Amino acid sequence: MSVTDEIKAKIDIVDLVSEAGVKLRHAGRNYTGFCPFHVNKHTPAFVVWPETGTWRCFGECNEGGDIFKFVMKKEGIDFKEALQKLAARAGVELPAYRPEKPEQKETYDRLRKLLEDALIFYRSHLLNHADILTYLHEKRGLNDATIETFGLGYAPQGFDNALQHFTQRGYSEQDLVDAGLLSENESGKRFDRFRHRIMIPIRDDQGRMAGFGARIVDPDDIPKFLNSPETPIFSKGRLLYGLDRARKPIRAADQAVIVEGYLDVIALHQAGYENVVSPMGTALTEDQLRLLKKFTRRIVLALDPDTAGQKAVLRGLEAARSAMDREGELGFDARGLLRNEARLQADLRVASMPDDLDPDEIVARDKDEWKRLIENAKPIVTHVMDALAAGRDLKDAKVKNQIAAQVLPLIEDLPNAMERDTYRQQLARLLRVDERALIGAQAQGPRVRRARPVERKPARESAQVAVRTPSGQKVEGYVISVLFRRPELLYRLDRLLQQYGLLPLETEDFEYTDYQMLFGLIRQAVEQDQAEHHEFVVDALPESLRGLSRELMTQSEQLDPVEEKLLEELLRGVIKMRRVAAGENLNQLRFLQEEAHQAGDLRAASYQDLVLQHTKLLRDLDQANQRISLKRFQ
Ligand code: CTP
Ligand code: MN
Repeated sequence: MSVTDEIKAKIDIVDLVSEAGVKLRHAGRNYTGFCPFHVNKHTPAFVVWPETGTWRCFGECNEGGDIFKFVMKKEGIDFKEALQKLAARAGVELPAYRPEKPEQKETYDRLRKLLEDALIFYRSHLLNHADILTYLHEKRGLNDATIETFGLGYAPQGFDNALQHFTQRGYSEQDLVDAGLLSENESGKRFDRFRHRIMIPIRDDQGRMAGFGARIVDPDDIPKFLNSPETPIFSKGRLLYGLDRARKPIRAADQAVIVEGYLDVIALHQAGYENVVSPMGTALTEDQLRLLKKFTRRIVLALDPDTAGQKAVLRGLEAARSAMDREGELGFDARGLLRNEARLQADLRVASMPDDLDPDEIVARDKDEWKRLIENAKPIVTHVMDALAAGRDLKDAKVKNQIAAQVLPLIEDLPNAMERDTYRQQLARLLRVDERALIGAQAQGPRVRRARPVERKPARESAQVAVRTPSGQKVEGYVISVLFRRPELLYRLDRLLQQYGLLPLETEDFEYTDYQMLFGLIRQAVEQDQAEHHEFVVDALPESLRGLSRELMTQSEQLDPVEEKLLEELLRGVIKMRRVAAGENLNQLRFLQEEAHQAGDLRAASYQDLVLQHTKLLRDLDQANQRISLKRFQ
């Protein structure tokens, strides 16, 4: 989840707007009130959509946006300031801005080289320690080829082996500290961080050394795994163990499997299942999922029964995200995963491991069993239902009630109506209740609870109402991904739009804040001539957009080489975006009009102009579309 999304998910737009002094009235699925941005106060033309977290003034300003835009406008501040303000309110930490500068790259490459040397150092110690090799061979079933391929090693006992070895070879102690090979005590004394441990080199997706994971040899030592500290090149939330070797097999299989442990990744690769990666003892992050999505959208989480089981499911549903981020646990935050699934348009499934076994033990027992388990992976919602129902008495009405109460909010959060229906039916069958009973039960769910008058302090849950994917987001994503890669197309696109009697592309055309930000940078890029356009955008990217930008680059990897065609696709994309927006606005206007009409109110007439404007816009857009199609046959 990008930072802006996280903030949006945590702040209730209805609260925010109300606190700014706008008295909102609940109307259907929305709230209406008087626009705080202009003086004409005859019509309540200001509408807030809690589901998408957006607002719009249908009156004089004829403007809209999300929480950021609202705060920017209300307080006259820029996006960066609004981001800071709302991040503080949501309790979300903003990532520091740190682009990889050329001189930094040099430093990083030096660290990587040192880590490569460390790998060789640890490996030579492994070859000299027969007992450790025997453990890897016999207890872990790893053969020499695997040990070599994964670069496994051994850090010997003692506090200064690495220290001596590397300082004698020209590295400074500071280099060793920076690379995470040495630790420092309070009095500033430096010593080997890894002692008497099996060393597992960790590389980034491009195969560059990033750090080490280190497993105990002596079962009494703690912690069981010690990883490199966070360094500029080792960031646990952004790396996936094994991805350098797994990326090709993942593409080939069009599927990635995520397991929990280093040794599981290694054992599965040895068994011929090479599309496997693992996080490093922290909950799965959106960055990691985005990274995987470069190679496939089909992702299976192989969770051990404890994590995937009831206990963890309950915790995942109730605990705050931050609590899930603790060390040593993959974690299973169903709601977070579902949101990521929707946002990334991924297909996330869960396979749970039988008989309390780790994946490495499963392939050791029966290679083919792994294949079956992965094939039978279930969608997240199904997994949650089954896990909650396992071992419970489903005839008991109280049990049914409890399960429904936990699963329905998840179902309600799904952006896709067909999926919601399917899962509701599935839940009804599982609990052997009539589906209508479930719809009734929803009345107590968070969605409808939102409908209380806003003057009342909203319950905590309301802040967690999902930010729904806006309907036009997919096409917005396409347009922005092309322009991000090829900013120079923007001028030509603008000219083309004008030829069809339409306005140039503007920030307001995008509904999604991240896209708005990115578009702003693209516009700036083409208006300057100091730097190459794409480079300019990349350099100016705030940290919060880096994940997204990587995804957009993958998305736009294969663009139509015929520029005319590409431009036509872009043009159609923009028309579609505007049609979606105009259609939604029109619906809303008709609703406002109808409402005013019923109240016997003169205001009804004042909406008529806007309705006409939007209708005309829709007609213009349709005509443009037709002309594009006709041109094809000329
Ligand atoms: N992990 C970690 N720090 C810890 C414990 C675990 O980083 N203190 C991470 C490691 O990536 C580890 C994974 O979580 O591989 C799973 O931990 P665990 O299930 O305890 O270990 P296994 O990988 O199963 O190791 P083994 O099979 O050797 O017991
Ligand atoms: Mn294990």
